[in-house]
Amino acid sequence: MTTLARLVYVSRPRMAGRRGGFLAMCDEILVEARRSNADAAITGVLVAGPGLFAQVLEGGRAAVSETFARICRDPRHEAIEILEMRAVDERRFAKWSMAFSDIDGAPAALVARFRQGRDLDVRAMTPTAVLAFMEAAAQAQAQDNALLGAPRPSAGYVDDIVFVRAAE
Ligand SMILES: Cc1cc2nc3c(=O)[nH]c(=O)nc-3n(C[C@H](O)[C@H](O)[C@H](O)COP(=O)(O)O)c2cc1C
Repeated sequence: MTTLARLVYVSRPRMAGRRGGFLAMCDEILVEARRSNADAAITGVLVAGPGLFAQVLEGGRAAVSETFARICRDPRHEAIEILEMRAVDERRFAKWSMAFSDIDGAPAALVARFRQGRDLDVRAMTPTAVLAFMEAAAQAQAQDNALLGAPRPSAGYVDDIVFVRAAE
């Protein structure tokens, strides 16, 4: 039986520069991520903001570990810090091979709900709060996620884990 696992980490994008270029880089990452995550039955969300990536990967423990190892070798980010890696009973992001949320484009009310003081400091939040924020962010930008070609929920079981196939 496959153990379902969830990994949450934060990192710092290495690309400085304009928002447009940064979002284009995120797009490139998402195209790769969605393709290989659909194959590996990985779901999750990537949140990007100024100086921040935060990502949830959920799926079979071996698949999550292998994907994360690849992500760690990626020169597009640095200062990778794991917030949580644990076995879970169910997925929180089952609808998305990799949802995307851009903090600067997220509704202000959403950010206001989760920030402490003036800024939203994801690194300082508890894993529970980070997950709640990331889930709300994925939902709030679900329409954009659909536009970006996130998979529609559909078929499929691998052992005991539900997976999502990317739309062709
Ligand atoms: C912030 C960030 C998030 C990423 N998320 C994923 C992901 O969820 N799944 C994935 O397969 N690759 C993801 N990637 C891309 C991988 O790091 C890697 O480039 C890609 O999997 C191809 O790996 P390869 O060239 O070793 O085959 C991400 C990269 C970055 C910088």
